Amino acid sequence: MMDWTDSHCRVFHRMMSRETLLYTEMVTAPALVRGGVTHLLDFDPSEHPVALQLGGSDPEELAEATRMAVDRGYDEVNLNVGCPSDRVQSGTFGAVLLKDPDLVARCTAAMIRAAGPVEVTVKCRIGVDDQDAEAVLPDFLDRVSDAGVRRFTIHARKAWLQGLSPKENRDIPPLDYPLVHRMKAEWPDLHLSINGGITSLTQAEEHLAAGMDGVMIGRAAYQQPADILLTADSRIFGAADPMRDPGEVALAMIPHIERHLSNGGKLSQVTRHMLGLFAGRPGARHWRRVLSENAHRPDADARLIEDAMAELA
Ligand SMILES: Cc1cc2nc3c(=O)[nH]c(=O)nc-3n(C[C@H](O)[C@H](O)[C@H](O)COP(=O)(O)O)c2cc1C
Repeated sequence: MMDWTDSHCRVFHRMMSRETLLYTEMVTAPALVRGGVTHLLDFDPSEHPVALQLGGSDPEELAEATRMAVDRGYDEVNLNVGCPSDRVQSGTFGAVLLKDPDLVARCTAAMIRAAGPVEVTVKCRIGVDDQDAEAVLPDFLDRVSDAGVRRFTIHARKAWLQGLSPKENRDIPPLDYPLVHRMKAEWPDLHLSINGGITSLTQAEEHLAAGMDGVMIGRAAYQQPADILLTADSRIFGAADPMRDPGEVALAMIPHIERHLSNGGKLSQVTRHMLGLFAGRPGARHWRRVLSENAHRPDADARLIEDAMAELA
């Protein structure tokens, strides 16, 4: 998620769950290939398994960006066919590509050739504007899976490309979970994950019980990370949870924060992702306040984590 799931966020989320797959912010292929902004590919080894999400619509450029991602050690390369923002539309990528499934097929075929053993996946919406999602989505899955893509994440609402802001496009077009469930029933051999409006592990379990292969959680994982991630490994994957409670996670972040500060980074660049750690728990407001009021101070360092935890007591 742009501006949210940077490397610090992913390191923080990975502390709470070893089994979930984490995605980068979208990085555009032109920025990597033409702009040479390769620091956008930086990640911490602790983040594995981690997927790079690319934006773009030029097969050769996407192939080159995919090669760069594979060289860096990403576990998956994902193509964004869901983003509705104007900036992205102007570059012909994101959700507008749902209008041109053959181009998506050419893009993903080129990415797959470049990716070697690394999997290329697609994140899409169910349609755009006045498209008939019931017709468009199956056709999209047909053509893009023919190009070799085996794994899709479907945000279960349309993108309305005119008149809605990106934020409104995440809330206003209605969710259609049954359509996505039907796609899974029709394509038993594809790995299909559902996304959009899922705010608890219980809801995630319901989608899995309905046959989905995976569930992607965006905003809730960011805003209430402990509720979603702390028990995801045991509840969803049958594995041991790495951390017991949010306090343990907060303390476990201190070495990462100290490394970041000693490399010249700012405390708030890490702690901004941690504001919701105690969401819904006693002291959550104090935690958020101490971090947000103090992390920007020039002398702020990792001791702020312990100070903020003292407020919880
Ligand atoms: C701040 C923000 C940035 C986002 N950036 C991206 C992005 O870069 N790529 C993408 O595929 N989706 C992006 N999304 C959409 C989410 O991945 C997700 O599809 C959407 O929020 C619906 O899922 P949710 O209800 O679980 O949040 C973003 C969402 C938010 C809130």
